[in-house]
Amino acid sequence: MRNFEWDNKTEVIFGCGTVAEAGRLVRRFGGSRVLLVYGGGSVIRSGLLDRVAASLEAEGISAVRFGGVQPNPRLQKAREGVQLGLSEQVDFILPVGGGSVIDTAKAIAHGIANPDVDIWEYWKKTETVAKTTKLGVILTIPAAGSETSNSAVLTNEETGAKWGLSTVWNRPLFAIMDPDAAATLPAYQVGCGVADIMMHTLDRYFNAVFDNELTDELAEALLRVVIRHGPAAVKNPADSHAMSEVMWAGSLSHNGLTGLGGTVDFAVHQFGHELSARYDVAHGASLAAVWGTWARYVLEGNEHRFARYAKNVWGLQGADEAALAMAGIGATEEFFRSIGMPTSIGDLGKTVTEADLMHMAEGCSRGHTRTVGRMRVLDHDDMLEIYRRAL
Ligand code: NZQ
Ligand code: ZN
Repeated sequence: MRNFEWDNKTEVIFGCGTVAEAGRLVRRFGGSRVLLVYGGGSVIRSGLLDRVAASLEAEGISAVRFGGVQPNPRLQKAREGVQLGLSEQVDFILPVGGGSVIDTAKAIAHGIANPDVDIWEYWKKTETVAKTTKLGVILTIPAAGSETSNSAVLTNEETGAKWGLSTVWNRPLFAIMDPDAAATLPAYQVGCGVADIMMHTLDRYFNAVFDNELTDELAEALLRVVIRHGPAAVKNPADSHAMSEVMWAGSLSHNGLTGLGGTVDFAVHQFGHELSARYDVAHGASLAAVWGTWARYVLEGNEHRFARYAKNVWGLQGADEAALAMAGIGATEEFFRSIGMPTSIGDLGKTVTEADLMHMAEGCSRGHTRTVGRMRVLDHDDMLEIYRRAL
């Protein structure tokens, strides 16, 4: 096991009915005027936003509403939120939604606390976040894990770049995780969430450190539970038992726990971000579309690891490690298909040309200036080849 530091400060309030705690929590964390951030309207239709507003009002906390955040959230929208938050003099940011809403809210929080800096400078790494505005989260979809993660992902619509920012300042103060708030989700979005949750652990589990026992076994257990309960949550998002298991796994999968003491790989996430930036496809689907191809590409020399995954996660048996490894990859793809996820870029239903693939490899390698991955380090040519094979 390698040395690590883990700053995981988010207070979790978990369970059915916990949305009603919003006002009490904001008050306890010192908020008095809140920017309520939300998406395209699901929380209005379900009545959730009104319930949150009522909970704030009961504590004498005023709220300004800022809706319309799109999936694969855009930079310009976050900039608008910064301006609104500054003019309304809010002191607390409360996103009610999924990763897109939460990441936008994180960006707004940084922008309000640092009004002299354009927020994209943080994503470009030309500026470093050193303070932010207080932020809590009400989660409505188990998927991105942003509710307890240290990262936030934005798309710059002017350049077409979808980039992440990791900083301890991205950790929310609290996360209300109420499985009933996810009951209105469309099945496809639950499928995307299940794929993303698995990928947050897979992108950590398949790394270059192989003697990391507790972390590896936690990762395997998390994957088994998501595989067991994910299909029921997809079939019926109002199944609060299945949704509870998936929702809690979503946070643990991306708060750092399943990778401590290792080196994170996250190559597949980088491939997926390019797909989402170019075709605006849902994040979880973008990952499922590439994972199997990536796995077969990096398999050579790593058969032992993939065979262990096949045994401990999928319960497969066999003496031939290479065959077992391939069976584990196949089982993963079959599972993705069973929950409505794509297993190739072609399955995404977009027109993709060779020029598009080259554009994505260019973006993923940031113009030939970076490699991705740790289990196997991948350069621009590897990226292009993986995109081609995933087609
Ligand atoms: O916008 P509304 O109308 O709310 O609809 C949303 C949206 O269309 C809908 N939805 C959410 N909760 C609902 C609901 N519909 C009905 N009932 C509910 N309870 O679901 C759709 C997708 O929402 P989104 O927030 O985009 O989903 P997700 O949580 O998957 O977030 C994806 C974004 O997070 C980023 C992704 O790249 C993507 O931009 N990620 C953020 C990470 C982080 N900050 O740590 C890590 C991840 O790897 C990921 O990159
Ligand atoms: Zn993800």
